[in-house]
Amino acid sequence: MTVTGPGVVAPPLPTARGPISQWIIDHCTRRVGPPFPSRRDVDPYGEDLHLALYLCYELHYRGLADVPEAMEWDLDLLGIRLELESLFLEQLHRDVAGGDDLDAELDGLLTETVGERSVSQHLATEGSLEQFREYVVHRSAYHLKEADPQLLVVSRLDGSAKAGLAAVEFDEYGSGRAEDMHSELYAAMMRELGLTAAYGDHLDRVSGTVLAEVNLMSLCGFRRELRGAAVGQFAVIELTSSPGSARLVKAARRLGCGPATEHFYAEHVEADAVHEQIIRRDVIAPLVGTEPELAAGLVFGIQASQHLGGRFADEVLGAWSTGRSSLR
Ligand SMILES: [Fe+2]
Ligand SMILES: [Fe+2]
Repeated sequence: MTVTGPGVVAPPLPTARGPISQWIIDHCTRRVGPPFPSRRDVDPYGEDLHLALYLCYELHYRGLADVPEAMEWDLDLLGIRLELESLFLEQLHRDVAGGDDLDAELDGLLTETVGERSVSQHLATEGSLEQFREYVVHRSAYHLKEADPQLLVVSRLDGSAKAGLAAVEFDEYGSGRAEDMHSELYAAMMRELGLTAAYGDHLDRVSGTVLAEVNLMSLCGFRRELRGAAVGQFAVIELTSSPGSARLVKAARRLGCGPATEHFYAEHVEADAVHEQIIRRDVIAPLVGTEPELAAGLVFGIQASQHLGGRFADEVLGAWSTGRSSLR
């Protein structure tokens, strides 16, 4: 196997977005700053909370430049993280319908117009190249670590659910070829679009709404009790990706983006048509067959993921409709 890329490089610390993320950055770098702010008035979907959580998770993924690796298990940081996660989860539970009718949720994914679709619809029909590049910058917060949050869940499953999820992950990681890893395909697309593609490069520009989506994946990945929600979230990606990616292929062609850009989305049209089947038949069916109590968690993962996707679409389309950039 040929090794491409520079190996694991810890991304630089971003600029704080408020007192919570400032506290995390100060704590990580052992600077003495202001005390942790009051928990009251914290926006559970806010830029500050989500940058803070994103940094907490980054310590588990690739670490952060100039932060000691041992900070990953710092007890103060872990305690703060749990509090922030609770605020986020409680708000999500207030904002989604819940329930345990999993089949209805899964069927809904195949027919409903979810927020993500309208961004891809906009880009396919009328969006500018600059808007397409903005979209790619936002989504880099996930795609440069594509499949990493879901890998955490594999160890919590067994039998065909485990084998099915591992099969999908194997594809996401390029089926044994580093240059075909979806994160690598994404980086190649970014370079083709004139964007730098190092992990973490664009963190300062990415919306907190996007960070919230990635944080939910990490949160559910790291907490065993939320494994159902993690699978539900992954189902949303896999069941809605194929048509969304087809619209982005159309956008890439219309805007003359180039072969690497078309390839990233075309690969997802094809792969995710298969992944959708595997997730439904080989992962979700056996999982709820053996652990029926996970159905409500799966439903929560699906609904929460759609809710956050809708917020992202509203934010981005709202900015574009008034001629503004959606980036920070
Ligand atoms: Fe992928
Ligand atoms: Fe996939």
